[in-house]
Amino acid sequence: MLQLDFMTVLFTGAIALLCWYFFKTNANHGKLPPCPLKPWPLVGNIFQMGADSRAQFKAWHKQCGDLFSIYFGSTVVVVVNGFKTYREVFMTKGAVTSDRPDMFFNQAIGMSHRGLAFTSGAVWREHRYTAHQILKEFGMGTNLLAEKITEEVICYVNTLAEKKGKPVDPQHFTYVSVSNIIGSIIFGRRFSYDDPRFKKTVKSIKTVAECAGMAGAVNFLPILKYLPGDIFKAKAIKVSYLNVKNLLAEMIFEVEGKGDNNPKEVENGNYIFSYRDKQRKKTQSRKATSLDDEHLLKSTIDLFGAGTETVSSTIVWCLLFILHTPSVQTKIHEELDREVGQGRQPIMEDQARLPYLNTVIKETQRLSSVVPFSVMHKTSEEIKIGDFVIPNDTILIPNLDSVLHDPEIWGSDAEVFNPERFLDKDGNVIHREEFIPYSMGPRICLGDAMAKIELFLFLSFMFQRFQFVARDPLHPPTLKPNIGFTSVPTAFEIICVDRFK
Ligand code: HEM
Ligand SMILES: *[C@@H]1O[C@H](CO)[C@@H](O)[C@H](O)[C@H]1NC(C)=O
Repeated sequence: MLQLDFMTVLFTGAIALLCWYFFKTNANHGKLPPCPLKPWPLVGNIFQMGADSRAQFKAWHKQCGDLFSIYFGSTVVVVVNGFKTYREVFMTKGAVTSDRPDMFFNQAIGMSHRGLAFTSGAVWREHRYTAHQILKEFGMGTNLLAEKITEEVICYVNTLAEKKGKPVDPQHFTYVSVSNIIGSIIFGRRFSYDDPRFKKTVKSIKTVAECAGMAGAVNFLPILKYLPGDIFKAKAIKVSYLNVKNLLAEMIFEVEGKGDNNPKEVENGNYIFSYRDKQRKKTQSRKATSLDDEHLLKSTIDLFGAGTETVSSTIVWCLLFILHTPSVQTKIHEELDREVGQGRQPIMEDQARLPYLNTVIKETQRLSSVVPFSVMHKTSEEIKIGDFVIPNDTILIPNLDSVLHDPEIWGSDAEVFNPERFLDKDGNVIHREEFIPYSMGPRICLGDAMAKIELFLFLSFMFQRFQFVARDPLHPPTLKPNIGFTSVPTAFEIICVDRFK
């Protein structure tokens, strides 16, 4: 009898708790943007997301309008869709929508609130400004940036040529080469493609990026990381991310001449020296500053993380789209042969002479939407958008994909690769304000200028030198992406036919 009563109490208690929880989340709805699904108690909508979150968000955008709410665990997250709303939230109201939520992977390596890409407030502002200054120093005067990139691109193209028409996995080489560019800016030296420590760093960064999509849920339900089998990849991320941290810390140590085997070939123009220089000047003039060892280390991690997979995936997407529409490659070759020829290397100044190649790059960025959900933001004040109220401290997902693939902006062929959409009838490039692969507002990609130089130099060198062919031209590789932090093409092989022979 007593036992039964106890069970009843327990059972009723549990039901009451669930009801309370359920009504609590619903009560919160007040003026929040609508929720497409009833969240489950405790887990919210986490287990209701389809395998393809892009398709899922697209359907919800259609169902609910530009703003909708979903629950990750008991945390409400507002998804921001459509160009006008995106601009209003992140640009017009950018002053109070530009914080970042704390991410579990940064906690996992003990680096929450450190560095550049995931900090908020004063630390973020000082580090963003500093990083901007340093990158500007590289891009100015001697144009060191374009020089460094050209040096790397030459190694890259030669490596592909050495394969002598045998099928290669373009992703691997591109990834290594692009991370070498960030590396050479940070450390003032490039690494050989088979340097073991560099290889390990690159591999670890790649694992973190790949697993980040799955691990997103762990941000909101930390308990998931204890599930057996590491289903949410939390352990995999932690291990790889710690590798990155330790390897970069070691390399910084050596560049500063504090290690046992300090590299000899360090150039003076590097990120670490510039950062230290600015740090020293501020300390000497007794200015308050957040510049220090930990923020420097995390800034370098952030730069590697943000500047590698984005650029390299865009290049590989371009190859993949070309295999599906060979006529585009013919036009690129005609333009390049006419405007640059084969007798010299392409240079940045050629960009204005190559409108068609430019539209190919734009269309690749639009269709691949390489960072489909940008990076999460957080409000720092309550905001009103139309009839809706988004409270202070609410996480926002900027749905870039919804802008880059919107048929109302791009037309009914929005899902088709068509560079001509960016070309006017006189053959000039059309610049559209809705083309925002780098996001917009105060958090806009810090490396957009650098990314543009990289994409142009890589692709112009590549198409000058090679004709790219699918292993089976009638059945080009799948366009299905793997969505982690970025949208990465499914691995494939390609044949690079040398046009210089
Ligand atoms: C095609 C290449 C690239 C694309 C599409 C891209 C896109 C983006 C996007 C969408 C964001 C998030 C913006 C937001 O929060 O609203 C971002 C942030 C960032 N990107 Fe890029 N990016 C690219 C290349 C690069 C490169 C080469 C670098 C390195 C120099 C870089 C450094 C950063 C940094 C540091 C942030 C964080 C900025 C902040 O939190 O204030 N990105 N990028
Ligand atoms: C918003 O929330 C944060 C974190 O809880 C708090 O520090 C800040 O003061 C709040 N801002 C306003 C305007 O209330």
